[in-house]
Amino acid sequence: MLIAQITDFHIGRIIETDCGTIDLFERLKDTITHLRELKPKPNLVVVTGDISNHGNIEDYQRTKTLLDSMDIPYLVMPGNHDSRDKLRALFNDDGYLPKEGEFLQYTFEDYPLRLVMLDSLEKGHHHGMICSERLDWLDNKLGEQPDRPTLVFMHHPPAKLHLPYQDSMNCQNGANLAEVIKSNTQVLGVVCGHTHRDSIANWANTILFVTPSATFSYGLQMNPVDDINPRFEPACVRLFSWKEETGLVSHLSFVGKYPDGLTEGVPTPATN
Ligand SMILES: [Fe+2]
Ligand SMILES: [Fe+2]
Repeated sequence: MLIAQITDFHIGRIIETDCGTIDLFERLKDTITHLRELKPKPNLVVVTGDISNHGNIEDYQRTKTLLDSMDIPYLVMPGNHDSRDKLRALFNDDGYLPKEGEFLQYTFEDYPLRLVMLDSLEKGHHHGMICSERLDWLDNKLGEQPDRPTLVFMHHPPAKLHLPYQDSMNCQNGANLAEVIKSNTQVLGVVCGHTHRDSIANWANTILFVTPSATFSYGLQMNPVDDINPRFEPACVRLFSWKEETGLVSHLSFVGKYPDGLTEGVPTPATN
C-alpha cells in the first residue's frame, strides 16, 4: 500500500515576499495537482493538521472541496491552528472521525498497515500535549493488535529536533508517550508535521518522521532565536510505501517542475 502524508496548509494566511503576495491556497492547489498526478496513485492521503491558519469555516470549506477533488480517500486530524468543532462539523459525514468524546483520535483499519491517529492539540496553545486520557486511549488501542504493523500519526513532534524555536512548541510530554511507544514494537514509525521542515529522528525505539509543509517552510535555524520567518522552499508530500515482504520505506516527493531528461544518464563507473 502507498500512503501520502500532507501537512500544515495554513489556509487563510497570506504571505508577503519580495516577489509579491502569495495566497497559500494557491500553493495547496499545486500540491493537490502533484498528488493527483503521482504514479502509482496513493491508496490514501493523511492530512496531519494545521489545515486552516485562523480556524475560519470558509477556509475549511474551500480546502475540503479541494481535497475532495483528489479522488483519493483521505483522513484529517487537528493541529494547533485548527478547531476540533469545525473539523468535526465539516468532515463528520466522511465517517471516520469519532462521534463522541473531546478528542479527534481514531484508528484506520482498512489496510494491512494499521494507522493510529493521535490528537496532540492543546486548545489555545501552540505546543502540543498528550494528556493521560489520550495516552490511555493510545495504550489500549496499540494493545488491541500488538502484532500488526502500525504507523502513529500526530501533529506535534514529541521529541527535541535540535531546532530550538520549533522545539519550544513541540508535544510537551513526549517522555510519557515514548514509554507507550517503546512497549509496542509493532509501531514502525511516528509521523508528524508542525515544524515545516524535514527531520528524521531515532526516538522511542522507532523512527520519528517530521514532514515539511504542503505550502511553505520555515528556515533551518538550529540556534535559539525569538522569531522565525516563512520561506518558500519546495512544498512536499511524504510517501510511505509498505509491503509485507520488505516492510516500510518513506520518500519525500517535491512539488514543482524540475529539469529532467538530462542526456547523460547514470555515469559509467571507473574501472581502475
Ligand atoms: Fe503549521
Ligand atoms: Fe502546527
